[in-house]
Amino acid sequence: MEQREQWGSRVGFILAAVGSAVGLGNIWRFPYVVYENGGGAFLIPYFFALLTAGIPILLLEFGVGRKGRGSAPLSLSRLSRKFEWLGWWQVLICFVITTYYVAVIAWAISYFFFSFNLSWGEDTKAFLFGTYLGTPVDAVTESGWNLGGLQWHILIPLIAVWAGAYFILYRGVKKGIEKISKIFMPILFVVMILIVIRAVTLPGAAVGLDHLLTPDFGKILPGFLGGTNPEWHSVWMAAYGQIFFSLSIAFAIMITYSSYLNKKQDINNSGFIMAFSNCGFEFLAAIGVFAAIGFMAVSTGSEVKDVAASGVGLAFVVFPKIINAFPALNGTFGALFFLSLVIAGFSSLISIVEVLIAALMDKFRLSRRTAVNWVVGICALASLVYTTGAGIVLLDIVDHFINNFGIVIAGLFEVILIGWFTNITRIREENNLVSDFRVGAWWNIMIIGVTPLILLFMTFKNFQLEFSKAYEGYPFHALLIFGWMMVGATLLIAFPLAYVFKWKTDNKQEGVRE
Ligand code: ALA
Repeated sequence: MEQREQWGSRVGFILAAVGSAVGLGNIWRFPYVVYENGGGAFLIPYFFALLTAGIPILLLEFGVGRKGRGSAPLSLSRLSRKFEWLGWWQVLICFVITTYYVAVIAWAISYFFFSFNLSWGEDTKAFLFGTYLGTPVDAVTESGWNLGGLQWHILIPLIAVWAGAYFILYRGVKKGIEKISKIFMPILFVVMILIVIRAVTLPGAAVGLDHLLTPDFGKILPGFLGGTNPEWHSVWMAAYGQIFFSLSIAFAIMITYSSYLNKKQDINNSGFIMAFSNCGFEFLAAIGVFAAIGFMAVSTGSEVKDVAASGVGLAFVVFPKIINAFPALNGTFGALFFLSLVIAGFSSLISIVEVLIAALMDKFRLSRRTAVNWVVGICALASLVYTTGAGIVLLDIVDHFINNFGIVIAGLFEVILIGWFTNITRIREENNLVSDFRVGAWWNIMIIGVTPLILLFMTFKNFQLEFSKAYEGYPFHALLIFGWMMVGATLLIAFPLAYVFKWKTDNKQEGVRE
């Protein structure tokens, strides 16, 4: 049997895993999520989520991948044939994420070039939605869609991203993914440090940081404990959602990456290093972004809450505005910021696409070349829909549903199936055997008890919230097709992929089955 590809070194693996984790989620998503959810108080649920779900699931996935030595469907199938569908579901979730993730990277590339002469002008919102994205006012109405045609200026950077991804993925795990991570991660770190230094030395930076770090406990506690926010649980849900997306867990990435570990490589220490590097980077980005927002608030005499805006808005509407107002070197700062988005996004994209490639290579015994051709070809075609004028609306709906009902529920099934129906102490012991330090029984308690309970509660609340009001007021047909049916389709297609098609490679491995 062909030798499975492997990472060249431990550092290479950690950098690739950090490269996957640190992505768009860290730079534009996290700062906004913290802000929206009570500033400093959000950090409590966030750390709670990191310790109760983030790190335990990460170590679980590292263990399952290393033990199974296969893509997510293969590793899970080697644990139990009955779990294979879950692997495919996570692979299909990756497919959906890939198609819009690449579009955001394409926007960041355009904005990197726009930075040099601040071509977004004064009205950055009108520029984004009108001039750049070309979003028709009637993009989605009760009577249907107006896609607004392909936008060539989005399509061109999108093709460039796919070409880059193709090149790296074609070269494989060690020569492609590991090599690019070793180059990109140090660059990203230096760029982020430069951004933060510039941002925190701006007048008014402290005002922004104050908002980021001042706790608002009323927002995260239930009424009987003195809370003032009737939707306090949504803050906890946001914290878990952020941890899952940010650590790249519960959507097959870390199982795939750890399947390229050699049998003797450390698991526990690498997991902790990776988790804390990701969260550290996330804070760094938030400090930079909030310091800049504080500067903007003070220089325009407005409140921080009136400057900050949600996800896409923060990076592509508010930031260009802040860059316009910079005292000097506006273009350089802008270029650095969008460069950081491109680098972080690209190394995460690679990991998401590798999940699909590895799964097809394993199941159908394809060569890397054939698998890369198919996967990049199909994903690139599907991503075209996000280069239309209505792309951002579609993206908003798909992102919301795949995160809340795809990743979170797939994570729930993962901890229940593996935690309740396999001998997870054995996985822990095997991880401990090769690791620098041992992980204790607390890990079992998290995987078997705490995490499933919290995720069950979150899932229930997510459904309740979704049925009580239409997400962002979008028409029913849009939410039905691009929300519910899209998530439903990923789940339904997973079953035939798992149980109709036969394995072309050996899915049983000595000593792996229970
Ligand atoms: N973990 C990646 C991110 O944060 C997917 O964007």
